[in-house]
Amino acid sequence: MSQPFIELSDVIVRYGANQSGTLALDQTNLRIDEGDFIALVGPSGCGKSTILKLVSGLLQASSGGVFLAGREVRANKVGIGLAFQNPTMMPWLTIRENVMMPLKIVEPFRSEYRRKKKGEFADRADAMLAKVGLAGFGDKRPWELSGGMLQRASLCRALIHEPRLLLLDEPFGALDSFTREELWEILQTLWIETRPTVLLVTHDLREAAYLANRICVMTARPGRILEDREVPFARPRTVEMSYDPEFAALVQAMRRRIAEARVDGGAALTVSNAA
Ligand SMILES: Nc1ncnc2c1ncn2[C@@H]1O[C@H](COP(=O)(O)OP(=O)(O)O)[C@@H](O)[C@H]1O
Ligand SMILES: [Mg+2]
Repeated sequence: MSQPFIELSDVIVRYGANQSGTLALDQTNLRIDEGDFIALVGPSGCGKSTILKLVSGLLQASSGGVFLAGREVRANKVGIGLAFQNPTMMPWLTIRENVMMPLKIVEPFRSEYRRKKKGEFADRADAMLAKVGLAGFGDKRPWELSGGMLQRASLCRALIHEPRLLLLDEPFGALDSFTREELWEILQTLWIETRPTVLLVTHDLREAAYLANRICVMTARPGRILEDREVPFARPRTVEMSYDPEFAALVQAMRRRIAEARVDGGAALTVSNAA
């Protein structure tokens, strides 16, 4: 078997110093190939954000291994892009400057930042903004944009340094459904063009089925991966497709899985199947 790009191997995460702390993940195993698009879904508090924090190196597992491109995450230099539900833009910077932020921080761009920030890098930010329908908004400040526009800009910021890995934690959760669907299309296009590996946490099952190649359903806390399912629909996917019977059936099946997982971590399912 080829080496996965991301691997969680028997990972346990306990928040707090001792045994009385919160057990967030219990014996979680997950393997993701490079260039794949994975959605992580599951009941609130099951450990989805915890998995993203592990992969980004913001958090260390209590036990087990977290590997990125074959190396322990801590020792890794793989470029990562991040976007969260609230697009945390720096209010004193323009949208262009916010989008360029990773270039200011991450090598190899960092050492060229002073020289290129007014030229090549600014052009690159403007080109990204144009791709997501924000041409001409580079000079605006964050407070001048709507929530949907800010989230588009935040996708640009997450991708400007061409990361090999994109971690998205409920990025569209705060948006109205029309804006959310527009952003699905934009994110799908960006993914098809540059093929980073994407790990998307979402509560929205239609979103998961629209965007992902694989959907991992987690149990209630302490989380484990309960089900790992391929999404077979051709790309580019469209909002219309999300109303097709096969699409609806996949979403329904996952909805049922999660309802069962909410009860008691999936144990009820095993029992009722056996009965
Ligand atoms: N820093 C922390 N300290 C203590 N408990 C935490 C911390 N972060 C998360 N938790 C707990 O761990 C569990 C998993 O959290 P999280 O990964 O954020 O869940 P999700 O993203 O699936 O909603 C939750 O019960 C949460 O309350
Ligand atoms: Mg979360």
